Amino acid sequence: MHFGELRQIDVTYDKKNLILSDLNLDIHKGELLSLLGPSGCGKTTMLRVIAGLIDTVGGTFTLDGKDMTHIPVHKRDFGMVFQSYALFPHLTVFDNVAFGLRQRNLAKEDIPALVGRMMEICGINGYEKRFPKQLSGGQRQRVALARALVIEPKLLLLDEPLSNLDAQLRVQMRSSIKRIQQELGISTVFVTHDQEECFSISDRVAIMNKGKIEQCDDPQTIYSNPACETIARFVGFRNFFPIELAKRLNLTISKTKQHAKLFCIRPEKIEVTSPAKASLQGVVEVRTYLGESYQYEVQTDQGMVALSSTLLPAIAVGETVGLLFPQENLVFIDR
Ligand SMILES: Nc1ncnc2c1ncn2[C@@H]1O[C@H](COP(=O)(O)OP(=O)(O)OP(=O)(O)O)[C@@H](O)[C@H]1O
Ligand SMILES: [Mg+2]
Repeated sequence: MHFGELRQIDVTYDKKNLILSDLNLDIHKGELLSLLGPSGCGKTTMLRVIAGLIDTVGGTFTLDGKDMTHIPVHKRDFGMVFQSYALFPHLTVFDNVAFGLRQRNLAKEDIPALVGRMMEICGINGYEKRFPKQLSGGQRQRVALARALVIEPKLLLLDEPLSNLDAQLRVQMRSSIKRIQQELGISTVFVTHDQEECFSISDRVAIMNKGKIEQCDDPQTIYSNPACETIARFVGFRNFFPIELAKRLNLTISKTKQHAKLFCIRPEKIEVTSPAKASLQGVVEVRTYLGESYQYEVQTDQGMVALSSTLLPAIAVGETVGLLFPQENLVFIDR
């Protein structure tokens, strides 16, 4: 059994359209699991379901063997940092971080040590007496994180917690989050629509689209073995061909991929050879210099092929080339 199990979750806001439908998701103990997907696909809604902020019309949520489906939000003991991380403006940083502990009626004398430790972990020690408006965006974000973490939540829910930061701070903060999360071993669900951010810190990624999960795997698997064309494009595959071409080029289709409709390959994985040595030929129509490599658009009888190559001298526009698709770099997909 998994640590967290969401089963057949249905959610509607208007009693008509299902925003999430028949959605299943496992959360492993101690992992950082990301929900990734385009705006409006249901990521925040999913997080609200886990948090207990909205009711489902169907489905169950169990955590550590306990049915959480109807447990109200304040009894779930989860830490949350939402996109608009509202700190209490009239409370100092210390009191903001201590808030959850006081709510849980912790012994007064135990609070300073716990708050101090978490502030140190989040890199905001020294700011105890300041008010939120006297902090930078990044510092506020850290206070919000410390406030969520100090209660040692069973589950940490983060909804685009870095969205208001500049690029540099974002990169810095995401490694702090990863470090803190690992140090404390907190199971975390992290919502983002930034692919790079997501792949860099996640143990697993659930890719969502239109209220469904299209694929849930570790980042390496998604990168090398995307489940569908949308995800394949998302992780950098170009050059989608009908499966019939694979047969014409005598490529091997593994037993598990016999029902594939398409295959694809990354531009940098195509090999260039002389036209006579390849079953697929084309004429270079566009050449773009990218510093490390050249990018080419090659017109073939299968349409335009995107090719990226470090080969020197560069291929001239107008030249006819042969294209080879190394078997190990092909991905077969069925939808
Ligand atoms: N309170 C609400 N009432 C009605 N519809 C809502 C409500 N909240 C969200 N929705 C709709 O539900 C869908 C999913 O919204 P959600 O906020 O979960 O998307 P998201 O994936 O978090 O998007 P984003 O990346 O933009 O934050 C959207 O179509 C949205 O318009
Ligand atoms: Mg959202």
